[in-house]
Amino acid sequence: MDVIDIIVTKRDGKELSNDQIDWVIDAYTRGEVAEEQMAALNMAIVWRGMSRSEVGRWTEAMLASGERLDFSGLDRPTTDKHSTGGVGDKITLPLTPTVAACGAAVPQLSGRGLGHTGGTLDKLESIPGWRAEVSPAEMQRILADVGGVVCAAGTGLAPADRKLYALRDVTGTVESIPLIASSIMSKKLAEGTGALVLDVKVGAGAFMKDRESARELARTMVDIGTDHGVRTVALLTAMDTPLGRTVGNALEVTESLEVLAGGGPADVVELTVALAREMLAAAGLAGAKDPAEALHDGSAMDSWRRMVAAQGGDPDAPLPVAARTREVLASGSGVLSRLDAHAVGVAAWRLGAGRARKEDPVSAGAGITLHVKPGEEVRAGDPLFTLHSDDPDRFERAEESLAGSYTIGGAYTPRPLVIERVE
Ligand code: URA
Repeated sequence: MDVIDIIVTKRDGKELSNDQIDWVIDAYTRGEVAEEQMAALNMAIVWRGMSRSEVGRWTEAMLASGERLDFSGLDRPTTDKHSTGGVGDKITLPLTPTVAACGAAVPQLSGRGLGHTGGTLDKLESIPGWRAEVSPAEMQRILADVGGVVCAAGTGLAPADRKLYALRDVTGTVESIPLIASSIMSKKLAEGTGALVLDVKVGAGAFMKDRESARELARTMVDIGTDHGVRTVALLTAMDTPLGRTVGNALEVTESLEVLAGGGPADVVELTVALAREMLAAAGLAGAKDPAEALHDGSAMDSWRRMVAAQGGDPDAPLPVAARTREVLASGSGVLSRLDAHAVGVAAWRLGAGRARKEDPVSAGAGITLHVKPGEEVRAGDPLFTLHSDDPDRFERAEESLAGSYTIGGAYTPRPLVIERVE
């Protein structure tokens, strides 16, 4: 097989054969295809796209590059959720124990954050003692005992994607629907879940800025999952403005605890319940206990406490807080008609909640409290945001990001949070 032939085939807009795909992914993973050759092939895919059968085979080849977990021996069905990433998106935290409390097992392999959207593991790591590294045997045990586990993906799962994603990150080839879909789905299929619900974010704070491209990404991922025997459904959900009233690691854990205690912001509760119902239905548990009830009767909180303790965390320990805070006050009066998710995400990242490079640490206490959400009234001089950071030198750059992020006055048009369902 000749790698140059493969690059030229895609460069000229032709379809790659199954053999070509299997060979190039395997040879690249083993180091036989050079980084520059894979970069050229990725760029050709960005421009030329892939057919359904190509993207399915590409995913299959990445899946075959590593191990695949198997939880079919559990006495309850497995179901999971993946979000394409948003600002203030802490939904995994209340969702996983809620679904576990309703009778399913949730084996969730998660990531750390890079750039303006936070990572679920970074949030959970703000809980004293909690550890993200869990072996497959331990995952199995926690799933059997507690019903939910959120942990780091081991290096043995889809190693081809690990290498390919690092290359795409530095060669301008992340933004391609077939490459994003195959990357996400190779990891989710490797995790061994029987059902999967995809939360595909649309809007200013998301990868996909418009509904058409979000729908295409959702369709591509749902097709891959279905073709691999995993019952897969996607919800397109709004990410123009942050979810909830907190952005930042420990701040988002605190807000998730409010939801698990039966309160919390309406948008976080709505999305948690909508995704939980989809996950249960996809797992064949549509008639089981309702997730809204699990949030109110204490059973979701009970599952959370057991999940945290199973991974070494102390559910009663106080969460870290930032050393310094600063308030940002409203400059005018009226209804907040816009609050841009991307700008808020960048501001939280500048305060220390996120990382610029993979190896950077994050601050557990850093982030932003949002005192006013779109559609709510504010008066000049009222607090709009509280900034939290360990380093007061970071406040100024965060304020720069927030300066143009909101509009007070003007027309406010409420938008539904769940925009569309794809199956
Ligand atoms: N997340 C992934 O895991 N892969 C991508 O390509 C993009 C987002």
